[in-house]
Amino acid sequence: MNKGFIFDLDGVIVDTAKYHYIAWKKLADEMAIDFTEEHNEQLKGVSRLRSLDILLGIGGVKKSESEKQLLAKRKNDWYLTLIEQLTSKDILPGAERFIKEASQKSIKIALGSASKNALFILNKLGIDSLFDARIDGTHVSKAKPDPEVFLKAAESLGLPNENCLVFEDAQAGIEAAQNANMKCIGIGNNQVLKGAQLVVSGLDQITVSQAMEVLNSNILK
Ligand code: G6P
Ligand code: MG
Repeated sequence: MNKGFIFDLDGVIVDTAKYHYIAWKKLADEMAIDFTEEHNEQLKGVSRLRSLDILLGIGGVKKSESEKQLLAKRKNDWYLTLIEQLTSKDILPGAERFIKEASQKSIKIALGSASKNALFILNKLGIDSLFDARIDGTHVSKAKPDPEVFLKAAESLGLPNENCLVFEDAQAGIEAAQNANMKCIGIGNNQVLKGAQLVVSGLDQITVSQAMEVLNSNILK
């Protein structure tokens, strides 16, 4: 089939947001920045360095570029320690079944994640082999909402952009899909996520046939 599904990772396939939060919070505490879980919502789908900029902005703290590199590395080292324990049990409900079913229906499967740790995480979860293409933070220079990550994923699958359906939990990711001229299913709360063709609370709440109806519908929001 000449259709593809492109999946974001964090928040769609695995709940890593809590670990990102713990690691950013530790860094924030060290700099006496009052960083809350609400603030953490702003970091979803956003690259590591951009996340650090947002965190520093919240605290009104200025750092040089070289200091920022060191701070981002410290955060990532803590984050890696936290996600070292990930196993297939951490896959979000329905995600593995949904991807396998799509694959069985000959839909091509790609990863489109901003994370530079994406391959490490896929391996920990034991689902790396389910993907025909894997585009992550190491392949892109522009962060979501720039469409680069999804355009590269479609290209890797050898498919036109409009034949691909994106699954995203972050507002920045939904906007990236729109900017790539791709339809999108939001994963999360429909009061929060705007611009997706459909929003469901998780991949356990949708069938592959329903997703294909979204992809094949002519209404592009
Ligand atoms: C995902 C997460 C973001 C994270 C980004 C970069 O998009 O939703 O919260 O900042 O990846 O992750 P990394 O693993 O490269 O620090
Ligand atoms: Mg995400």
